[in-house]
Amino acid sequence: MAQAEIGLIGLGTMGAMLSLNIADNGFRVAVFNRTTARTHEFMQDAGPLAERIVPTETLEAFVAALTPPRNILLMVPAGEAVDAQIAALLPLLDKDDLVIDAGNANFHDSKRRAVDAETADHLFLGIGVSGGAEGARFGPAIMGGGPRAAWDRVAHILEAIAADFKGTPCATWMGAGGAGHFVKTVHNGIEYADMQLIAETYGLMRDGQGRDATSCAEVFARRNEGTLQSYLTEISAEVAKATDPETGQAMLDVIRDSAGQKGTGRWTAIEAQMLGAPVPVIEAAVAARNLSATLDLRAQGAALFPRETRSLPEGAVTDEMLEGALIAGKILCYAQGFDLLARASSENGWDLPMPAIAKVWRAGCIIRSAMLDDMASALEDTPENLIFAPFFAQHVRANMPHLRQVVIAAQGAGLPVPAMSAALSYFDTLTQARGTANMIQAQRDFFGAHGFRRLDRDEDGQHGPWLNQHLQ
Ligand SMILES: NC(=O)c1ccc[n+]([C@@H]2O[C@H](COP(=O)([O-])OP(=O)(O)OC[C@H]3O[C@@H](n4cnc5c(N)ncnc54)[C@H](OP(=O)(O)O)[C@@H]3O)[C@@H](O)[C@H]2O)c1
Repeated sequence: MAQAEIGLIGLGTMGAMLSLNIADNGFRVAVFNRTTARTHEFMQDAGPLAERIVPTETLEAFVAALTPPRNILLMVPAGEAVDAQIAALLPLLDKDDLVIDAGNANFHDSKRRAVDAETADHLFLGIGVSGGAEGARFGPAIMGGGPRAAWDRVAHILEAIAADFKGTPCATWMGAGGAGHFVKTVHNGIEYADMQLIAETYGLMRDGQGRDATSCAEVFARRNEGTLQSYLTEISAEVAKATDPETGQAMLDVIRDSAGQKGTGRWTAIEAQMLGAPVPVIEAAVAARNLSATLDLRAQGAALFPRETRSLPEGAVTDEMLEGALIAGKILCYAQGFDLLARASSENGWDLPMPAIAKVWRAGCIIRSAMLDDMASALEDTPENLIFAPFFAQHVRANMPHLRQVVIAAQGAGLPVPAMSAALSYFDTLTQARGTANMIQAQRDFFGAHGFRRLDRDEDGQHGPWLNQHLQ
């Protein structure tokens, strides 16, 4: 059999789908899986595509099946499995062979692996792949990081298998080292926030307005025809209208309200803190998932502090207000995500292509939405903050009253809206030229002589009259 242009290790959910996608796009792909039985199963299920797939049972046979310089894609669990797989491959690799980690790696690991690869004289790319199993099979969004030359070598394959937005492939090189996995991490952080904002509007409809799941599904479906058209809005309508085959109840009504997470949202919040980047909507979404998992504690809280009702007053929140609140919250959340990307870009010397990031996210990935196309255009003019771009400034102006009204009504009724509240406070802070940190600076100077800047002088290290008084 002819040698393969690319090889893939790890035929789990994602790896199997990616291999089929690669073969479907006309490339010959060699595959290897730790457990050989899985390789056999995979080949049986591959149908006519099996013609372009080279199954192998040892790493040696896998490496031998590839055309040098070799391109090897890893789709194994992030972390130790990736390091172990690279270590097992190393003795079999030649100079310029390329290892691509396509799992959900922490970008610090990708940075380290890129340096190790240089030392070992082979190439390494860390690529973020979004879109779940369906994306992997029919077109994911791909965010690449590592040496540009390595990306260029496999770009024709990655672009062919990626999602397509009106003729443009959703696969882009983001920068050196861990840039691709960093962009993927922020994608996931935004995903957490987007999902949380949607869940909050669901809570307001269910608990505040007493609507059933079918009625919520209708609202989500209508929203999906306007500014909020997105994959997440679409699937929210789908899940809300589904019925539990076992009980006949609405599916949503039989699912425990305890959200799972694999940690990428948390990584976004951690990296934002390390960079001093304000991403309160994403942080609120991560905290909300953590709090959701405390089911017993919340049951105790509900018993100890009972509320008679959490209903919203009649007419306090309309569908139009909810939609507007969600539009404003979503724009503010993305503004924070892009701000974080910009700060990480300068900190890591990446020169991240902001409009290209928005373009990559337009199709294939979980946060794909109509709005991202407008964001890509707005980011071309490098606004200091997305909401300062004229198009989004206009949207925010039009929808902020809705966000404010909804948050006020929700808080009055005792309905938690942490992501919406965070978006509102972020906006109010960002648009208040004189804030309240002068009080914090005075306190810091009082107890620690940290000094401050006066409004009328451009020098650090000024002190208040209290400095020696309270120490005397
Ligand atoms: N699932 C998603 O929607 C999704 C979306 C985007 C990104 N990702 C990322 O993609 C990666 C793969 O995810 P998945 O969902 O495809 O995982 P999965 O279904 O659990 O498959 C894992 C694969 O890795 C192999 N493997 C596990 N440990 C290994 C080790 N120590 N050495 C060598 N091979 C090992 C497994 O082989 P065996 O058959 O021998 O166990 C299996 O083929 C992860 O980083 C994940 O976070 C997943």
